[in-house]
Amino acid sequence: MAFAKLCSLDDVWEGEMESFEVDGHEVLVAVLDGGEVRAYQGICPHQDIPLVEGTFDGKRLVCRAHQWVFDAATGEGINPGNCRLAAYPVRVEDDTVLVDTTGVAPVHAVS
Ligand code: FES
Repeated sequence: MAFAKLCSLDDVWEGEMESFEVDGHEVLVAVLDGGEVRAYQGICPHQDIPLVEGTFDGKRLVCRAHQWVFDAATGEGINPGNCRLAAYPVRVEDDTVLVDTTGVAPVHAVS
């Protein structure tokens, strides 16, 4: 596989997140404060809740269901700290956001 178009930068502004499906993967795109783009699994590792239904302040993602908090720059869990989001390689060409889903599997936490 290779990089595939996920969305346009016009679809997700700085400090916002949005969810898209590509190649059967639910992918959450978050544009950090400062404009860097990240792509993570779209479903919370805790239970089957779309992360896009939570909140994002440009730095941290918070799941709406049980308030798990993730660092949006790295995907690492902040609370709890023993989990993380699977990250997709992402790149931006012109105003197009591309991701590569090859070999990336969502993380499911055991709790
Ligand atoms: S489902 Fe996301 S914190 Fe529980």
